[in-house]
Order: sequence, then structure tokens, then C-alpha cells
Amino acid sequence: MLKTIISSGMDSSDARHVLISRGEIASVVARLASAISRDLRDKNPLLIGILKGSFIFMSDLVRALDFSLELDFIRLSSYGRGRQTSGSVRVVQGLRSEVPGRHVLVVEDIVDTGITVAFLLEYLKKKKPASLALCTLLDKPSRRRVPVTIDYTGMTVPDKFIVGYGIDCDEKFRNLPDICYLED
Ligand code: PRP
Repeated sequence: MLKTIISSGMDSSDARHVLISRGEIASVVARLASAISRDLRDKNPLLIGILKGSFIFMSDLVRALDFSLELDFIRLSSYGRGRQTSGSVRVVQGLRSEVPGRHVLVVEDIVDTGITVAFLLEYLKKKKPASLALCTLLDKPSRRRVPVTIDYTGMTVPDKFIVGYGIDCDEKFRNLPDICYLED
């Protein structure tokens, strides 16, 4: 785990440290893709990414899957522009795909309190998919407030404020290629 302060240059004074480098992320994505391939190859799965945070992970993950699949996005929000979850999840933009009878894989960037994915899994379950599984790049179990079963976990992370590789703080830092954390 590196502890390098990167000079900001992104109009924020938050000091950030690399937690997971882009090289490590690539290895994790490859491992996840291999496990998902074993289970979902030949099932033409529907991958559903949760926006905005999952957009980079989804794009890397699908390019590592060499079988027929479809993808869609749903935009959920519970954090607004702060660091604390509001506790209630809003569907900001719904799905276009038909879920009944499909093998669905939810693709999430980070499971923190679990409130966002718990909401989405319940929402999808009501649509009667053939199967429903969850893949998250990052898991922060120390913050869990609702139980969540994760089928594919990339890495477990400590209770730090994580940014980068799609994940934001007040909409900043999503474009960082490494996963970083902000100083408290
Ligand atoms: C973040 C993150 C996850 C969720 C995890 O999304 O991308 O979707 O919070 O937190 P939880 O497990 O405590 O619910 P956010 O609501 O900030 O929206 P965003 O993806 O647009 O950044």
C-alpha cells in the first residue's frame, strides 16, 4: 500500500494517497472477469452498472469478458454532494432493458453501507430475473449498515474516503486512474 501524497492540481486542497494502483486494478479486473466468465458464459447475461461510480469499472470489465452479453445502466444516488449517505436511495435514471428471465449481474464500484446495492437488488428481484448476482470492485465491510451478499469482490478496503477510477468526492476525482483515499 503506497502512501504517496500526490500534488493536487485538480482545484481541491484535499491531499490524496494511492491505495490501489492502476496496475493492481487491472489484475483485480482480470480475476473478476475470469470468475464471472466461468459462471455466466453462454447465458447472455445482462450487466447493470450503477452510475455514476461504476462507469470506468464497467468499461474495463466488459472488455475483459469474451462472450456474448448485454449491458445497461441505472443511475442511483444516495450521497448527493456530501460524504455522508442520506440513507435513502433515489432512482435518478431508470433501466431501458427488460429484466424478466435474464441472468442479471449488478456491477458496482464500491459497497459501503450497502444501502445502494440492497435497494437495487430488491428493485431487480421484483422484476423476476432468471438469476441475480452482484459484482463489486471494492468492499468496505467496516461501514456496513445493511447486510449484502456479494458474489464477486475485487478488493476489501479500509474505512477511508475512497476516490478515483470512477468514484468521486463532491463530483471530483472520478478521472483519477488509480484508486486513492483522501485524508480525513
Ligand atoms: C456511491 C458509490 C456506490 C454507493 C455506495 O454512489 O458509487 O454506488 O455510493 O455507498 P453505500 O454502500 O453506502 O450505499 P453515490 O450515491 O455517491 O453516487 P455516484 O455513483 O453517482 O457517485
